[in-house]
Amino acid sequence: MDPRRAGGRGVTTDRIITRNWGNPDVFHVDGYVANGGYAGLKKALAMAPEDVIELVKGSGLRGRGGAGFPTGVKWSFVPQDTGKPTYVVCNFDESEPGTFNNRELVDREPHQLLEGLAIAAYAVRCHNAYIYVRGEFLHQGTIVRRAVEEAYDRGFLGKGICGSDFDLDVVPHRGAGAYICGEETGLLNSLEGFRGQPRQRPPFPAVEGLYASPTVINNVETLCNVPHILENGADWFRGFGTAKSPGTKVFSVSGKVERPGNYEVPMGTPFRVLLEEHAGGVLGGKALKAWTPGGSSTPMLTAEHLDVGLDFESLQAAGSLLGTGAAIVLDETDCVVEAARRLLAFYAHESCGKCTPCREGTWWAVRVLSRIEEGLGRPEDLPIMNDLGRNILFRAFCPLADGAVSPITSTLTYFREEYEAHVREGRCPFTGSGPGRRIEEVAS
Ligand SMILES: Cc1cc2nc3c(=O)[nH]c(=O)nc-3n(C[C@H](O)[C@H](O)[C@H](O)COP(=O)(O)O)c2cc1C
Repeated sequence: MDPRRAGGRGVTTDRIITRNWGNPDVFHVDGYVANGGYAGLKKALAMAPEDVIELVKGSGLRGRGGAGFPTGVKWSFVPQDTGKPTYVVCNFDESEPGTFNNRELVDREPHQLLEGLAIAAYAVRCHNAYIYVRGEFLHQGTIVRRAVEEAYDRGFLGKGICGSDFDLDVVPHRGAGAYICGEETGLLNSLEGFRGQPRQRPPFPAVEGLYASPTVINNVETLCNVPHILENGADWFRGFGTAKSPGTKVFSVSGKVERPGNYEVPMGTPFRVLLEEHAGGVLGGKALKAWTPGGSSTPMLTAEHLDVGLDFESLQAAGSLLGTGAAIVLDETDCVVEAARRLLAFYAHESCGKCTPCREGTWWAVRVLSRIEEGLGRPEDLPIMNDLGRNILFRAFCPLADGAVSPITSTLTYFREEYEAHVREGRCPFTGSGPGRRIEEVAS
């Protein structure tokens, strides 16, 4: 039998964590339980914590928050002999442009996240967990708070959860409204009440994280997979996706497509399938120009990469990254210089200011990109952009700046001619913006 069809909770398709989308009952705890919810937690509580870690390790689940670190391995790094409490923090900051799958996972089935969080906490012997909710997610903050209350009421959180001797408190925490608060050490600072800026590593959070204690930080989507692994086993999970990137991924697709939205597909699915079969193809039947596989901080790819598999290894081999699994699609009428300028403006705004390459570099990049887009570019601006990219990449304090470089280097690689046309013609060939006509004026 297809291992996927052996799964519990009626999993008979390639969807694991979105299989209940369309069933509004699972929003509340009773409907969630009626559909098999919290069975994974009960199974975990009957196991030794170390065995839960081994099972998750064996499944090959890798973090869905961007870095793709193996989840079970991360949990196994947590020392148990420090005499300090251990914390688990769910990263629900989700600020990467183009990414909106965490939000919908919580919108539709918040208890799936709580169940995964409780299993993670049990595995690393944590009794105090936090959910760091992006500041702007006012509605989702309320959903999380109410779901936590429901879980307490039904004994899935609190003292002796599910009749076991394991206690777990979960505190939802509204974030500070900054992209950098999604970076795990910036998040910890913010959670402690300090300015959201990254911390020096090492020490890594697993050893010295929240309140200088061992801390596991996991993304919403990562945690949502955990109950299903507990319930159905590591081999079942490995029945989805590729050998090195097992499981599925919920891809957020936005931009110039017919049906923007979140689509869960097995890892390794070619981008063409995601774009054409799920998202309905490029809007208005236009030609695909460029797309980001993993949100704005991953290098753009082009129509030549339509058949690249959406998994960690294939995307890296193609010169990009899986990141958060967010495809922003540009069509033939879009100007990549303008796209790069807009994205860089985001990074310049969100740079926390702690280190010079990021703070100054992103600001300069916006200036140079703006003048090119406005038709005031100079031939030497292209080498300047290249230099800027080289001097930021891997030279900043945290990876925010590395992400900021992606739109610059990838558009310069694939669309250099377009930059040159801007400089040569003294205007944007797409928007028509030129000297004295700012882009915003042209657009309005
Ligand atoms: C600038 C920046 C922003 C980030 N934002 C997020 C975020 O919003 N959500 C998230 O889960 N991870 C984010 N990350 C990655 C986290 O630092 C961390 O790797 C992740 O939460 C770990 O969870 P995972 O192992 O389950 O993927 C960000 C990283 C950087 C450098």
